[in-house]
Amino acid sequence: MEIIIKANYDLMCEEAVGFIHKSWQKKTNLVLGLATGRTPLGVYQGLIRLFEEGQMDFSEVTAFGLDEYLGLEANHPESFASYLEKILYQHINIKPENIFRLDGFPEEIENHCQEYENRIKQVGGIDIQILGIGTNGHIGFNEPSSSLSSRTRIKTLTRETLAANGLIVKEKAIPRYCLTMGIGTIMESGTVILLASGRDKSRAIHESVEGPITAAVPASILQLHPRAKFICDEDAASELTKKDYYKWVYDHKDKVDGYLKKLSQNRGRTKI
Ligand code: GLP
Repeated sequence: MEIIIKANYDLMCEEAVGFIHKSWQKKTNLVLGLATGRTPLGVYQGLIRLFEEGQMDFSEVTAFGLDEYLGLEANHPESFASYLEKILYQHINIKPENIFRLDGFPEEIENHCQEYENRIKQVGGIDIQILGIGTNGHIGFNEPSSSLSSRTRIKTLTRETLAANGLIVKEKAIPRYCLTMGIGTIMESGTVILLASGRDKSRAIHESVEGPITAAVPASILQLHPRAKFICDEDAASELTKKDYYKWVYDHKDKVDGYLKKLSQNRGRTKI
């Protein structure tokens, strides 16, 4: 895992946008998995800026929505489909046929979820999965106690998540159910970027990064992912016990070549 701690929200979004941009330069038909919520907003704005500045072209990019409320039409203002359309898709030149969404009103739930999984496989898998994290450590809508090998399926939302997403109105929780990519699905992505900002995420980040791998904290599974990047601001990183080490590793990660060159020049003459 790479733990990247930036001074503030804008810098953490810049880090994520930079990685996505570099990945697109290597693979223009990039396949992205896209989370919703407040946290990734700055990343999507950064991608739009790259498009507007002519530095990134989305015409070959494919996008998959991470999750969706059940019972909301795609054009419902509260749906995640509307969120991604409004926040990102309508501002870039991604092709409509390359946008895939979980359907809030599927004909048959299980079939729809299986078709979603098949489509992800057909395009060669997700290259970069962008995630936020719930205060209870959920990723997508994989709530605590979700199987760590789960696939795209229906889930019942916790009251904590409904409250955090502003969906408890006068004690009435609406909607209660959602469709979400599973943890097993997420784990098959090439790279996972988990974004976290704010003190309300500090416990979830500490437990996910430094706690045991447990279904009680779904994001902790990312400790097993070969290329997982946790990109946080200082507030969200505030409960991490090894912050200095993570910063040290990040500050020195691109200096290995110079280090080896120096060592080979002094081979046999100095101790490390
Ligand atoms: C919802 C979404 C998650 C998101 C989480 C945190 O539950 N299903 O994908 O990561 O909320 O959202 P925010 O970034 O607004 O805190």
